[in-house]
Amino acid sequence: MAFVSNEEINNIRANADIVSIIGSYLPLTQRGKNYVCVCPFHDDHSPSMSVSSEKQIYKCFACGATGNVFTFVSEYENVPFIEAVAIVANKCGMTLSEQTYKSNITQNFKEEYEIMQLAQKFFMNNLRTDVGQEALAYLKKRGINDEIIKEFGIGLSLDSNDSLYSLLRKKGYDEKRLNDLGLINLKDDKAFDMFTRRITFPLWDKDGNIVGFSARVYRNEKDVAKYMNSRESKIFKKGETLYNYHNAKDVAKREKQIIVVEGFMDAIRLSSVGIKNVVALQGTAMTQEQINLLKKLRVKVILCLDNDNAGLLATVNNGEELIKNNVLTYVIRINGEKDPDEYIIANGKEAFMQNLREPLKFFDFKMNYLKQNKDLNNLSDLTTYINDVIKDLASNNDPILRELTLAKLSEEYNVSLDILKSKLNDLNPVKIEKVVDKAPKEVIKKDSYIIGAEKIIYFMLNGEEYIREYQKKLGFFTDSLYREIANEIVYFFENNHQKITVADFITYVSTKDSIRDKVMEIVNESINDPIDLETMDEYIVAVLKQMTKNEIQRLKKLMKEELDVDKKMKLAIQIAELKKEEV
Ligand code: CTP
Ligand code: MN
Repeated sequence: MAFVSNEEINNIRANADIVSIIGSYLPLTQRGKNYVCVCPFHDDHSPSMSVSSEKQIYKCFACGATGNVFTFVSEYENVPFIEAVAIVANKCGMTLSEQTYKSNITQNFKEEYEIMQLAQKFFMNNLRTDVGQEALAYLKKRGINDEIIKEFGIGLSLDSNDSLYSLLRKKGYDEKRLNDLGLINLKDDKAFDMFTRRITFPLWDKDGNIVGFSARVYRNEKDVAKYMNSRESKIFKKGETLYNYHNAKDVAKREKQIIVVEGFMDAIRLSSVGIKNVVALQGTAMTQEQINLLKKLRVKVILCLDNDNAGLLATVNNGEELIKNNVLTYVIRINGEKDPDEYIIANGKEAFMQNLREPLKFFDFKMNYLKQNKDLNNLSDLTTYINDVIKDLASNNDPILRELTLAKLSEEYNVSLDILKSKLNDLNPVKIEKVVDKAPKEVIKKDSYIIGAEKIIYFMLNGEEYIREYQKKLGFFTDSLYREIANEIVYFFENNHQKITVADFITYVSTKDSIRDKVMEIVNESINDPIDLETMDEYIVAVLKQMTKNEIQRLKKLMKEELDVDKKMKLAIQIAELKKEEV
């Protein structure tokens, strides 16, 4: 990646004082060694953001925003990272060279995007011709007018199975490439258009590039899938896209909330009645990448999935994942109609808005859900219910919520508060309190391995001796995310004249989607920790202990399944050796 060895960018950062750059956007107040301000990245009322002149980074202890001078400008001005570098350079009287600028703009898939644009124009145009009349009538019947068609780029693929193919071939693109992009299918040396006789909906990536299509049947056709999606390609990863994200993200930040629906027809409907802060999952499953996209907005997430059993289950599961990721989650369940699209058609915008004004907190939704299909007059059902609630409370560590819920349970069902409390204490995992101002207190559960690994990673960002200590005494992590981050730190260090600072490492990871968020989280949580080798060694010992424990567990399982006596014996010896190390 260009950023690591880019002395020019690192040099600009070294010359730009984060205090004066952030100070040029927001009033800062000095507090001890640091400066504080109202955080511009969430709905803040008292100063939650702290800017460190020594470390040249900022962190918000309420919403978790963290970064260096470039990420601040990039997020604040809503511009790509390299744009932010240029702005910062400008602000301190320097200029970013044309060469560095050009080599860092994301042009990687320029031609792929162009091809998709051509296909898009073709589809959109088809809908405007005579052959498009039937599809157009279908759309009109569903209440999709010209304005919506234009806004969402709705189009039509033709009956003939080589029309897009011929067009793109004439433009000189080769078959293999079109096949890789999922626009055509190559079969026995013959090429066919991927989509025929379907209404097409472009799919965008988070930045608004068209990366694929989803296409719906509109005639009465039997035995064909209702929707057909582009296959995955180097520009289209279904699990990484949220339909309409690029349109919704700014509105969502303004309104401080985003609505998540299942189908893109739902998103289109909400948007067409003026509710623009909406994205669609394109199904019921929610991936970690999608959660990361939502998390990045730092706003309330309101789940509004279909009114069926699949939608209900997905609300429970997705909500739990969001909560685990410290996302403030709310739920709307619609009644009477199948999905938000049909609900709005049947009841109008105002009825939907009414729901939107009173969403359920995820926890309350979950409590109602746990009551479903249970007869709470029946002792066995009641016991199950109370146990389920306590299990849920164990992973939700808002102390006030716990206290209130237990008191309510005790009173409502006549169970002693002490019993409920002791039950909860038995279940409750290790927790670390995260200081949260205003927003409800969040607490995250972390076991000693995770705590240790994250601290060690943080120490490594603080200079050579900590990297050496890691190499000498640990050398690797068993799980892939921490291993990857540690490897990146070592790589950065080796390629940056054996120097490292937190702020420069942040520049380096700013374009690495897979590890950036975790690195920022670690920095945010540890930035005020005192740094010394002794403490680091304690974490290393804890991590080693846990890794040995896990390895013993793994070998024990293998041993149990092993039928060969000799091999069983060997495993037993290995386990014994490890157990010696353990003490
Ligand atoms: N989906 C899909 N393939 C299917 C069915 C559904 O990819 N065969 C995805 C689509 O992205 C769709 C979402 O799942 O938007 C939700 O599906 P569904 O609820 O069946 O679609 P609706 O949004 O209700 O679509 P419509 O109103 O056009 O029937
Ligand atoms: Mn529908």
